[in-house]
Amino acid sequence: MKDFYKNKVVLITGSSMGIGKEIALQALNLGAQVVINGRDLERLENMKNELSSFHENLLFLPGDVSDYSRNVAMVNTIIDKFGRLDVLITNAGLSCYGELEEMTSDTAKQTIDCNIYGSLFPARAALSELKKTKGNILFISSIAGFHGLPECSAYSLSKMAIKALAQSLSVEVYKSGMTIGIAYVGFTENDPDKKTLSPIGQLVPVPDRASFSRVSKKTSALKLLKQIKSGKFSNTHSLLGMLSERMSRYFPSLMLYIIKEKYKRIRIMRN
Ligand SMILES: NC(=O)c1ccc[n+]([C@@H]2O[C@H](COP(=O)([O-])OP(=O)(O)OC[C@H]3O[C@@H](n4cnc5c(N)ncnc54)[C@H](OP(=O)(O)O)[C@@H]3O)[C@@H](O)[C@H]2O)c1
Repeated sequence: MKDFYKNKVVLITGSSMGIGKEIALQALNLGAQVVINGRDLERLENMKNELSSFHENLLFLPGDVSDYSRNVAMVNTIIDKFGRLDVLITNAGLSCYGELEEMTSDTAKQTIDCNIYGSLFPARAALSELKKTKGNILFISSIAGFHGLPECSAYSLSKMAIKALAQSLSVEVYKSGMTIGIAYVGFTENDPDKKTLSPIGQLVPVPDRASFSRVSKKTSALKLLKQIKSGKFSNTHSLLGMLSERMSRYFPSLMLYIIKEKYKRIRIMRN
């Protein structure tokens, strides 16, 4: 891994906390030059202090990745500072919970903007530089992207859409020497201050998950960095992810039935 990442310039969107921050730490330890992104300036400032020993190999670029012009400005700044860009990981993501009928249009739009445009726009902005270095793009999807999940419509839709983006792009760049990948990340431990959107658009803490079903951020981040190195197009994390993928592909009616039955039981328990 060190041979691959040493001196590579790696842009990780949404890397001021969570999985993105962990990818950044691991990439720095492998000798990469890392670009950190996020919107919250205070969080970025704290991270800058925390990582002061890596000062020369770090660049902090605040900005909303669903704003195309911000992505263009970020790529220009990266080229000014490091002279190249080798890897883009479109990790910034936002989840929202609630049935569609309860969800405001703005909640759905924020989720879709962040997860779809927040993947497509950085890729578009970085493409010409990545072609020069025969670089890599890794799109971060989720096991919620294999099948539409109840109370997750906007999130599932956005994570499923990333597959189309990754597929189209991998064909378009086939002659360039670049590699494109998509990772279906499974349940991962969350940062304590991770937030999700409520149906009416309030940022609220994410619901707790059973610990047996989630892996550490270290495990998820390492798998993502390994996937980039391997050039593998698609990688599914976790047993639940593999089951969802196979079931959705080979037994779609059974998959729908199981999800419906489980949701029925959840609703009965709530009432
Ligand atoms: N955690 C899981 O169990 C899990 C499972 C499957 C897939 N995933 C996917 O993995 C990725 C990371 O998840 P996570 O749990 O680590 O998330 P997280 O802890 O909520 O962190 C999200 C990061 O993205 C940034 N961000 C959010 N919206 C942004 C925007 N519009 N522009 C720029 N930065 C933005 C956040 O900083 P600011 O808020 O300051 O901008 C933060 O740094 C996401 O794509 C998620 O969908 C996670």
